Amino acid sequence: MKVNVFKERSLCVAADFSIDEKKYLFEQTRLLKEAWYRNDEKILDGFRIKDMDFGIYEVFLEDSTRTRESFRNASEFLGVKLSIFNSDSSSFNKKESYIDGFMTLAGYNNQVFIVRSRLEGICRWLQLQGEKYAERNKLGYKPAFINAGDGKHEHPTQELLDEFTLIEDNHWSTDSLHIALVGDLFHGRTVHSKADGLKIFNNVKVDLVAPPELAMQKQYIDKMKENGFKLRVFNSLEEYLAQPDIASRFYFTRPQLERMGERILKRQDELREKITFREEFVKKLPAPENTFFYHPLPRHKEHPTIPIFLDDLPLNHWEVQSINGMFIRIVLLSAIAGKIGGDFSGATVENTEYKEDFIREVSPDYSRPKVLKEGINPLANGVVIDRFCRGESKEDIWNYLYKTMRIMGFSRYKGSVGVGESKKAPGVYKGLIFLPEIMELSAKDLRRLAAVTAGCTVNIVKDNKVARKLRLASPPRIYKIKGTGCTNSECISHYTHCEHVPPEFIRKGDGALECYYCGHSHRFKDIWK
Ligand code: NCD
Repeated sequence: MKVNVFKERSLCVAADFSIDEKKYLFEQTRLLKEAWYRNDEKILDGFRIKDMDFGIYEVFLEDSTRTRESFRNASEFLGVKLSIFNSDSSSFNKKESYIDGFMTLAGYNNQVFIVRSRLEGICRWLQLQGEKYAERNKLGYKPAFINAGDGKHEHPTQELLDEFTLIEDNHWSTDSLHIALVGDLFHGRTVHSKADGLKIFNNVKVDLVAPPELAMQKQYIDKMKENGFKLRVFNSLEEYLAQPDIASRFYFTRPQLERMGERILKRQDELREKITFREEFVKKLPAPENTFFYHPLPRHKEHPTIPIFLDDLPLNHWEVQSINGMFIRIVLLSAIAGKIGGDFSGATVENTEYKEDFIREVSPDYSRPKVLKEGINPLANGVVIDRFCRGESKEDIWNYLYKTMRIMGFSRYKGSVGVGESKKAPGVYKGLIFLPEIMELSAKDLRRLAAVTAGCTVNIVKDNKVARKLRLASPPRIYKIKGTGCTNSECISHYTHCEHVPPEFIRKGDGALECYYCGHSHRFKDIWK
């Protein structure tokens, strides 16, 4: 039997749905929206779940109007059992973990959770644990978790409605998009979801307009570049509007005061000015009749960055954008319930398989007998780690050598470290570790060493000869390695939250290590606590 790929699906980040899947959902949304305004009950009924045993739980641990209420109205239209969790009087205040709290609700016949929290990556963790909980307790369904905004990380359902609105306004074409993202690009999660989301358009040009204090983080910029977007950066709207190539789509996002630190808050007036649209700017827009403004809302009533005078101009597309939110969410929930989606036939997201072949045994070069030295004495027996942090500065190598000795537990043994210059490439430095008391490294040690360094060579020396030589490449995924941790204090896996989430990192093309939960980017040296 054909499986419905949408059934029981979680949506934690924008990349959780493939482009084909999103196109399918958008077609359904178009159908629903048209039927809605024609009062075509027959079509509308095709979306309704009509099952009071199907439980949808809204768990909002941060404030919301549009997201929470559009999901609530969508659920009522769908005819399901809707519950709204009151976190203020819950056992979370008795220091209960999120897993224990959410799993309890999952056990009461609730299939879908809509979750907003300041903790980044919480939905991924709930999704993974939800599968295990359902199996252990034979629930007969797998609970799905929808991220309704997690800290400054992502907001994938807002992304769906934004994309739908952009495509609708583009006469249903996904050929190209030129958009200016204006505002708090640092804390604004809706713009972060665009880094993967806008891939739905074939040619994407993004202009980032924000003062440096509110600029988009490198990890999202890198992702946009990786996805082939053309990027330009501007410090203010004034600067942006003074150049000739102005986008016809503007996406504003408010300064996220509640996420800002003291230092930036003090300067909020000055920063806000750089991203606020002024009356005199209207005439700088090349074709105001074909320029559309979007905003996920809310806007600040005292200091709106899209002022009230714009409401009556044809620029105003944020209202229709907000209305589309309910349609998109009806379709999404209907698909997760398996009511629609059975006729989908496109590509779904691929599960990444991580190759574990990063430790490679190479044959020692016997033709060139080499004596590895410890200080001035030759090392007759033991382990020599070579090419450690090759190519980095001498100072960095020294610092990291000592740290690695501690991380690996080598400091308990006799040994020495050194920094040498490459013979083949003068000016290129590398670290060396000599361990005369250690005769072998276990598979676990090697795995850990590979995670600690970005590639090195391990020589096992016996009777003055290299008996075994192992080249360690960087593992594509670092997980279950004690001593590592995400450095983002808002991440669900950060130790301060005591949620017992084992840290996990995925290596990106440029060697950066991305936290599996919150997406925070690290250099390999930074993940060690
Ligand atoms: C956004 C959010 O919560 O991230 N709002 C929304 O969901 N419509 C944007 C914001 O709060 O500024």
